[in-house]
Amino acid sequence: MIENMIENMTVISVIVGSTREGRFSEKPAKWIFQQLKNRGDIDARLLDLRDFPMPFFDQPGTPATPGRPPYGNEVVQRWTAAIAQSDGFVFVTPEYNYGPSAVLKNAIDWVYPEWNRKAVAFVSYGSAMGARSVQQLRETAIELRMDPPVSDSRCRS
Ligand SMILES: Cc1cc2nc3c(=O)[nH]c(=O)nc-3n(C[C@H](O)[C@H](O)[C@H](O)COP(=O)(O)O)c2cc1C
Repeated sequence: MIENMIENMTVISVIVGSTREGRFSEKPAKWIFQQLKNRGDIDARLLDLRDFPMPFFDQPGTPATPGRPPYGNEVVQRWTAAIAQSDGFVFVTPEYNYGPSAVLKNAIDWVYPEWNRKAVAFVSYGSAMGARSVQQLRETAIELRMDPPVSDSRCRS
């Protein structure tokens, strides 16, 4: 019964977008993950890129290729499956030189259809609040046919 309930829940994955020693990203990511879990109606997952040490993208074809053969790398297989199993995402991202971290961009680039038509939100931080990183990630998300938030004056008070 409980297993059936969990199976039908929306899966929201919080992605920890940096891996360096002493990183800040895990603090907001763990907090957001806990808030999602507290709701009780969401299957919240924490996807820490430290647990997915993928090589730099090195495939002959693009991940968007129809009928793309399964990846041989076990870590990439796990990552691709984790994205496929998720219905939506919270990217917790640093700003490195006006953009997202390389490790996050690489993780994004390995996958394509598994991102399509899924909701995405961004949480950033840093001396300029990570705004430029989110700006770039929004454009990337559109290219991935995801559904990033739009600024809509009707939503403002
Ligand atoms: C390689 C590098 C580049 C950075 N570039 C920027 C930047 O362009 N703008 C900014 O506001 N902060 C920048 N910072 C500061 C980061 O926002 C800050 O160190 C943040 O904590 C990094 O996230 P992390 O701790 O999760 O790795 C940079 C930090 C690093 C390590």
